[in-house]
Amino acid sequence: MPADNQIYDRLAETWWDSQGILHVIRTGLNPVRFGYAQHVLEREGWTDLSGIRALDIGCGGGLLAEEFAGLGCDVAGIDPSHPSVEVAIAHALRSGLSIDYSVAAGEAIPFADATFDLVYCCDVLEHVSDVDRVVAETARVLKPNGLYIYDTLNRTLASRFVAVTLLEQWLDLAPRGLHDADQFIRPSELRRMMKKHGLQHLETRGIVPGIGPLKTARGLWNLKRGAITYPELGRRLRLRTGWNQSVSYIGYGVRSG
Ligand SMILES: C[S@@+](CC[C@H](N)C(=O)[O-])C[C@H]1O[C@@H](n2cnc3c(N)ncnc32)[C@H](O)[C@@H]1O
Repeated sequence: MPADNQIYDRLAETWWDSQGILHVIRTGLNPVRFGYAQHVLEREGWTDLSGIRALDIGCGGGLLAEEFAGLGCDVAGIDPSHPSVEVAIAHALRSGLSIDYSVAAGEAIPFADATFDLVYCCDVLEHVSDVDRVVAETARVLKPNGLYIYDTLNRTLASRFVAVTLLEQWLDLAPRGLHDADQFIRPSELRRMMKKHGLQHLETRGIVPGIGPLKTARGLWNLKRGAITYPELGRRLRLRTGWNQSVSYIGYGVRSG
């Protein structure tokens, strides 16, 4: 069964709730992926980001869009979840940030060709119905030499076990149907799609916990018995980039000139 994306409608109020389930993405994933993005931008010589046009595909509640807006980028965000986009708009207003959010899917991006200097798509590709179409649309809206940054889940036994068997079925810590392991994408598949649509792939790295298996298990157990919140677990995992890409990976490419 395809991933149940209505979960993001039902849980939209938790994106910015410091105790809420979706806020784990901010405490757990934002440090590693936003850190990686900053490293990529620096490596590519992008020092002054003011006025850089950035698109967040699958922006959810705007957890990452607000980080890029904070760097001075001119950010647009799209997501098919209407309630999530409403939450994103309300939070940006409260934060005094001007971000152009709209309800749309990555398969049909409502912007003209060559609009953006930077497009990123984080923790989204494993949820879309047509990955190839999303990559084609990404390439279309990127300016020549524009950057594409992504992270997603690998299609392996390890990721199936962690994301579905352990978190959804055994521990009941993730909503059932959040992920369909058949929708996970191998790095080689993503690289092929990028090449097909004119995106030159430059790097892939794994995303791994910065703590050992025992501490990870203790964190999950503490969450299960209600001793800590999801966002606290996210902080404790100290996710970072590493060589092991078997569960999750992050990378980037550039739109051919
Ligand atoms: C795990 S959340 C990630 C949200 C956000 N990128 C972040 O990391 O904070 C997955 C998001 O993908 C969105 N999504 C699902 N199908 C999509 C599609 N076809 N195009 C764009 N976004 C989609 C969901 O609504 C949800 O907000």
